[in-house]
Amino acid sequence: MANEKEKELAGRAAAALVRDGEVVGLGTGSTAFFTMLALGERIKAGLKIVGIPTSNATADVAREVGIPLATLDQHPEIDIDIDGADEIDPQLRLIKGGGGALLREKVIAAASKRMVVIADSSKLVPALGKFPLPVEIVGFARAVVKRKIQALGATPKLRTRAGGSLYLTDNGNPILDCEFGKIGDPPALARTLSNIPGVVEHGLFIGLATLALIGRGDRVEEIRVG
Ligand code: A5P
Repeated sequence: MANEKEKELAGRAAAALVRDGEVVGLGTGSTAFFTMLALGERIKAGLKIVGIPTSNATADVAREVGIPLATLDQHPEIDIDIDGADEIDPQLRLIKGGGGALLREKVIAAASKRMVVIADSSKLVPALGKFPLPVEIVGFARAVVKRKIQALGATPKLRTRAGGSLYLTDNGNPILDCEFGKIGDPPALARTLSNIPGVVEHGLFIGLATLALIGRGDRVEEIRVG
């Protein structure tokens, strides 16, 4: 079960890592929300940073809390990216995209000197795959991509909004949520998915996060790799 207090502890601990003058990747979701709140407080107290948002929703929150925003064109190299995850394994391989922002999240993570993943303790898993893997696709290719993913042993479901209409990302693309069950070899699956024409991006983040801050009870646990 997700835990708001743990999310807040992790989100705020990550905000404390940000230094004056840095370009900061701003993640998407309810944990990254607390990082933005804390950054807003630090900015009021004098911290000078710019944020690059991973989604339109995050850009809205950043503006509300007073984080100055910039674009990747202005800052193609980011100092620190702080983002949540849907699942985290012991090697800090992640499933992301539950909030639909996986494409921009991955572009920003890959453009960052370091990525810090923040989560409550429910997100730590021994192996990835219980959470359906989000795959952003080109709408034109959806039937073809769906068949190819089915052939890999998953059950892909086209994401819809609450009323039943098609969900589209900030980039105007649909998402297939793909239940794989336990993913035995995440790097191999990542390569296979990336090679399917019509797949824009998938939610496996491998070799990107080097530090995880996990809220557990009333403290924050650190996990480092690399
Ligand atoms: C957004 O697309 C996702 O990758 C989020 O980072 C992920 O869903 C975590 O969100 P919460 O912090 O709300 O659990």
